[in-house]
Amino acid sequence: DRTLKIAPSILAADFANFGSECEAIEAQGADWVHVDVMDGHFVPNITFGPATCAAIRPHIKGVMDVHLMISPVDPYIDAFAQAGADVITAHIEAGPHIHRTLQAIRGAGAKAGLALNPVTPANTVEHLLDMVDLICVMTVNPGFGGQKFIHSQIDKVRQLRAMIGDRPVHIEIDGGVDPSTAPLVANAGADVLVAGSAVFKGGSVSDPAPYGANIRAI
Ligand code: DX5
Ligand code: ZN
Repeated sequence: DRTLKIAPSILAADFANFGSECEAIEAQGADWVHVDVMDGHFVPNITFGPATCAAIRPHIKGVMDVHLMISPVDPYIDAFAQAGADVITAHIEAGPHIHRTLQAIRGAGAKAGLALNPVTPANTVEHLLDMVDLICVMTVNPGFGGQKFIHSQIDKVRQLRAMIGDRPVHIEIDGGVDPSTAPLVANAGADVLVAGSAVFKGGSVSDPAPYGANIRAI
């Protein structure tokens, strides 16, 4: 369905308390939990891998949305699927055979996501539209939380929504989502909004109420 979903990114959570953070954001109204996997190669930062995903899985009731900022992708798909990822998103820039990667993700039993860096045009997805369940439009350069939203991506969202037509494909926005930018992408056709810093600011596992207020403000 196309109702707007908020997917807090645990990149902005307390890394020493992922389980409690996931429970707290769901209790405060998060729709999905967004999990940013970085390898220090595809992006200039390192987070965590499939073992951490498996460890947090029991603490998430809803959708675990795993965003792979790694290259290569294919050798790790089964591990993330086994870890309980509901959605596995790979970058179109991560290698020459994204078609194979998307087949492998669905083959492993997960929903297939395709992420586009800010410089990657909408029309590169033309031959992949029937192979994806989600397209993630990066509205920052991947690698770090807390960066500034890139406004040129709004038109890309509009183009993608038109290309998708009546297919059941989510458009997810990742990077710099806050109460001022969220309406711009929602109006352009996005239906899943990832937010890290805008959700976690001002709260903690011992004082999670700000998470709820932040989610409602988006
Ligand atoms: C960036 C990550 C994002 C990031 C968003 O590489 O993919 O999910 O956590 O963080 P904010 O919402 O702080 O821009
Ligand atoms: Zn992400």
